[in-house]
Amino acid sequence: MPFDLATRLVTCDDPAAVARRTAAIILDSAARAVAARGRFRLVLAGGTTPQLAYRLVAAAQADWACWECAFGDERCLPRSDPGRNSLAAHEALLGRVPIPPEQVLPIPAELGAAEAAEHYARLLAPRLPFDLVLLGMGEDGHTASLFPGHPTPEDEALVVAVHDAPKPPADRVSLTPKALAATRDMVVIVTGASKREALAAWRAGADLPVARVAAAGNALVLVDRAAVDL
Ligand code: 6PG
Repeated sequence: MPFDLATRLVTCDDPAAVARRTAAIILDSAARAVAARGRFRLVLAGGTTPQLAYRLVAAAQADWACWECAFGDERCLPRSDPGRNSLAAHEALLGRVPIPPEQVLPIPAELGAAEAAEHYARLLAPRLPFDLVLLGMGEDGHTASLFPGHPTPEDEALVVAVHDAPKPPADRVSLTPKALAATRDMVVIVTGASKREALAAWRAGADLPVARVAAAGNALVLVDRAAVDL
C-alpha cells in the first residue's frame, strides 16, 4: 500500500508532547525487540529536536545491555566538537545509561567523509535490519544529511559522504535511503514554526529527501502544532 502521509501524521500539542510520545515509542520498540530477538537496534537522529526525548528515555528503565545504537548521520568534526551528533546523544542519553560501549556505534566522521562512509557501511551491513530509525527534518526538507538538490545515493550504498551540505558543516556522513529504510519501524519528528514551510510542502506532495525516506520506511510522523499550518 503506498505511503499516505495524511494517515501517518500525528499532531501533538507542543515539543514536550512530541518528546513524550517519541520516548514511549522508543521504549516500546525496545521492549518488543528484546523480547523477540534479545537485542534492540536503534538509529539515533541528530540535531536538537530529539534531545528532550533522549533525556526522557534515559530516565526510564530498559534492558540497556541489549541496546545497540547507531547514528543516521554525523558532521565531519572532531569527536569532542559540540556540533557532533554523537556528543549530543552522549550527553542526553548514551552517557546516562549502561549500554555496553561496544554497542554504541558512532560514525567516525573525524576521519573525513569518504573514509568514514566506507568504514560505517562495513560496520552496518551485518547489523541490518534496524528495529527503529529516528529522524528529524530540516527547514529545507532534508533528513539525516540527505539534502534537496543533492544527488540521491546510488541504490546499493548504505552510507554516503556528503560535501557542500547547506547546513554546516559542509562535509558530513549520512545513511542512505536504502539503509534508513532497512528497519522495522521509523519515526520522523518535526517541531517548531521554522519547519512549517517544509512540512506544508511535504504534505502537498513535494519530492523532498524526508518524503522519500519516510515513504520508504513507512514512517510515523510526529509533529507539534507550531509546525503545522494553522
Ligand atoms: C544534523 C541532523 C539533521 C537534523 C535536521 C533537524 O546533523 O543536522 O541529523 O538531519 O535532524 O537538520 O535539525 P533540528 O532538530 O536541530 O531542527
